[in-house]
Amino acid sequence: MKEQLEKLRSEALKALAAADMPAALDALRVRYLGKKGELTAILKQMGGLSAEERPVIGQLANSVRAEIEEKIAEYSQKLGEKALEAKLLAESVDVTLPGAEFPHGSRHPMSIVLDEVKDIFIGMGFTIAEGPEIELAEYNFTRLNTPEGHPARDRQDTFYLSEDDSVLLRTQTSPVQVRVMEKQKPPIRIISPGRVYRKDEVDATHSPMFHQIEGLVVDKGITMADLKGTLNALVRRLYGPDAKTRFRPHHFPFTEPSCEVDVQCFECKGEGCRVCKGEGWIELLGAGMVHPKVLEWCGIDTDVYSGFAFGVGLERITMRRFGISDMRLFFENDVRFLNQF
Ligand code: PHE
Repeated sequence: MKEQLEKLRSEALKALAAADMPAALDALRVRYLGKKGELTAILKQMGGLSAEERPVIGQLANSVRAEIEEKIAEYSQKLGEKALEAKLLAESVDVTLPGAEFPHGSRHPMSIVLDEVKDIFIGMGFTIAEGPEIELAEYNFTRLNTPEGHPARDRQDTFYLSEDDSVLLRTQTSPVQVRVMEKQKPPIRIISPGRVYRKDEVDATHSPMFHQIEGLVVDKGITMADLKGTLNALVRRLYGPDAKTRFRPHHFPFTEPSCEVDVQCFECKGEGCRVCKGEGWIELLGAGMVHPKVLEWCGIDTDVYSGFAFGVGLERITMRRFGISDMRLFFENDVRFLNQF
């Protein structure tokens, strides 16, 4: 039995030393020291020993058990440390490495120009107003002196949302004039940027969705001179102090008199070229003195107050500003285009 025990000890110690995982140590513990393990099996023969031999073998068996248990404890601690070390090594972060580069976007050219325009007008005492894109025909047309039967209301030109043509996608930002005047007493000085919709085919200068910036001033003694001064200030801030403007008579139902404002072609300085299609001038915006009917329908006394309004296309002024020739570039979101701003 002594030899059996010695053999068990040396075998067990060898096996334990070779174990490379905590689970393997557990299996060896069961194999050697478990209830059905090899040590128990040897000790079952104790019954056949003499009274003198029994304590000697008993002591030896205890010391073999103690030694194996000690080794198991020692190795399991070592394996645990090793595992931790490996884990730390695998998860280690080299804080000296350069950071991963985040591709960061740039501002859309129309956002850049819109912010410039807002800045220019805020500097002149205007505030920013907003209105709904889904609008009542009442506000988009009727209250703007554009009664039923007017060609601008044609189903060919406008996206109606209801069978009776009373709700639509606004075709202009001008209905915001009415919404503001209904709520606010003069003096009024607002601009209102936003999306507008018309049934246009997409090409280099048209899109069924585009952006306008509406402007409205109502106060005592407002005249065409205020309109000209304000719009000249806008154009010079956008295109430089030498930019020349031209005010042409025009017609809008909700302004009287009305005009269109052109800016002299920056390319040919008025000579006529490809950019201005030989005109020497480029059309920029529509404007006029608010029609007295429009003011009165909003409860504004036209004996006391007058006003001017204008509407400018954001795509158009952005194209001029950056020399962009195709409007589709604004909406295609090609990063090669967007990255340039
Ligand atoms: N709403 C007009 C348009 O879309 C522009 C405009 C606005 C004209 C305000 C005069 C005054 O064409």
